[in-house]
Amino acid sequence: MPVSLKGRHFLKLLDFTTEEIIYLLDLAADLKGKKKNGIPHDTLRGKNIALIFEKTSTRTRCSFDVAAHDLGMNTTYLDPSSSQIGKKESIADTARVLSRIYDGIEHRGHGQEIVEELAKYSSVPVWNGLTDEFHPTQILADLLTIRERFGRTSGIRLAYYGDARFNMGNSLMVGCAKLGMHFVACAPAGYFPGNELTEKCKAIAAETGGSITFTSDPTLGAKDANVIYTDVWVSMGEPADIWDKRIRDLSPYQVNSAVMASAAPGAVFMHCLPSFHDCNTEIGGLVCEKYNMDALEVTNDVFESPASIVFDQAENRMHTIKAVMAATL
Ligand code: CP
Ligand code: NVA
Repeated sequence: MPVSLKGRHFLKLLDFTTEEIIYLLDLAADLKGKKKNGIPHDTLRGKNIALIFEKTSTRTRCSFDVAAHDLGMNTTYLDPSSSQIGKKESIADTARVLSRIYDGIEHRGHGQEIVEELAKYSSVPVWNGLTDEFHPTQILADLLTIRERFGRTSGIRLAYYGDARFNMGNSLMVGCAKLGMHFVACAPAGYFPGNELTEKCKAIAAETGGSITFTSDPTLGAKDANVIYTDVWVSMGEPADIWDKRIRDLSPYQVNSAVMASAAPGAVFMHCLPSFHDCNTEIGGLVCEKYNMDALEVTNDVFESPASIVFDQAENRMHTIKAVMAATL
């Protein structure tokens, strides 16, 4: 049976089969080719979508906006302070109102249960633009980027360094399991994905030929890895006073040239961005100064090295988000 995702929500990769994820990657590659060759693909002309951001964003917001315009759609952006959501109106009521007006709804927020609730009450597709637990549109972009670089995803070993129990660690683990990749979480005790999700992913990986392993040894973590991946040590919505503990716990897991040298020949560096690879941002500057560091989760030399494919990833956010909308609307 050919894959059809019409009318489906896109809330987490666990809800999708391997075949469906590959279908989305193929569609994204096709749409990327069309965009590069100037071939119009405004097949969703006249549709309208709502973009709800309860946390800030550069890549996800811009990707949804441009992808929607390329597909011929109009967008309405609701920022963290300009709607009634959660304050004067419940998620259930918001979903029922917006799905009378719009053809699709993107939501970036806090707990996964919020976007799941929105989807439950929405009669139009809801797309998860990041929760504390999962960031599925990011993973699609990452998988497409890996496939472009290595010509395949199956059998690729990806080592995730840092806080592996938050949205990026969790959802990379799911994405790797679904596509027969080897996922390694390299983190201190207490920073690994939860047991329930890990067991689910191990069962999926057993079917797809992938694997899930955890280690607290920063040298061993990179062994044979084709991809070294990291993310910020403090995520959106977390309190600023957590930095002390995170610097203490996660500094040994900084991605630096020694980590890259321990990886497989030809290994690439990936990061969902934004990144504190130097001290040239407001928050990065304050943290660097306080802890006397010149970079946080990744050193600048690695970030700027030829092995770094972070801007390919960023571009692919747009093509893969476009595929999600084109497939579900
Ligand atoms: N990677 C990512 O989601 O970036 P933004 O927070 O800028 O959307
Ligand atoms: N873990 C990060 C990802 C940003 C794309 C955060 O939630 O802030």
